[in-house]
Amino acid sequence: MKSVLGVNIDHVATLREARKGAMPEVIAAAVIAEQEGGHGITVHLRQDRRHIQDRDLRLLKSVVHSKLNLEMSLSEEITAIALDIVPDQATLVPENREEVTTEGGLDVHGQIERTREVSRRLAARGVIVSHFIDPEPKQIEAAKEAGAAYIELHTGAYANARWANKAHEYTKLVEGARFAAGLGLGVNAGHGLDYLNVQPIAAIPEVEELNIGHAIIARAIFCGLAGAVREMALLIAGAGESRDWPWKL
Ligand code: PXP
Repeated sequence: MKSVLGVNIDHVATLREARKGAMPEVIAAAVIAEQEGGHGITVHLRQDRRHIQDRDLRLLKSVVHSKLNLEMSLSEEITAIALDIVPDQATLVPENREEVTTEGGLDVHGQIERTREVSRRLAARGVIVSHFIDPEPKQIEAAKEAGAAYIELHTGAYANARWANKAHEYTKLVEGARFAAGLGLGVNAGHGLDYLNVQPIAAIPEVEELNIGHAIIARAIFCGLAGAVREMALLIAGAGESRDWPWKL
């Protein structure tokens, strides 16, 4: 199966919130990202509202024609907003106030009742429920038990691994994807992916959607958002032609 690109536009809002003004407009970013090869738009409405605001989510719901994927914590406040807005997909993520970005995967195993309850309420509104987890069998099984339709495998450890550890982290993702698919879960992946490390992940047969933000927005500052999205979409579409990754499997 070919993977598709979900463009995370949080950091367009990060730039806007640096001045608390109107620029750059995240809605414009969503339109460009969709037109240039994004198969979905992803935003994370954090409890601290450090980037995406409620107004952004409301407008995106009517503007996005592809798939709107809301990253969200298990908090009741955010759950109520998600149930009101009804995005196409909700990806349940952990959230700590102090963190710079989402650090580990959601500990579904350790909070299975709450995760199941939030997942059930979202699914009842027709939302596709995904759990952002580390590639550990225990978490994958818990996601299945808690009612996820999809998991999003956390690719951060692979992205951050030095050369000698890349193959090891990659293998965990490959095996996690296979294990999840065997349980009947759909598989997405994301976090820390960039123009250099994306292709091996896009080549994992079970992976359907890659959610990528920081690298695209960073490149957009120098090259423009349209080209940055196009280039990432092309890399993803071209993955799978070679499994000869430089760090040797
Ligand atoms: N997927 C999830 C669940 C995330 O929390 C994030 C970060 O918001 C991403 C993907 C995108 O990560 P990055 O910005 O490093 O591409």
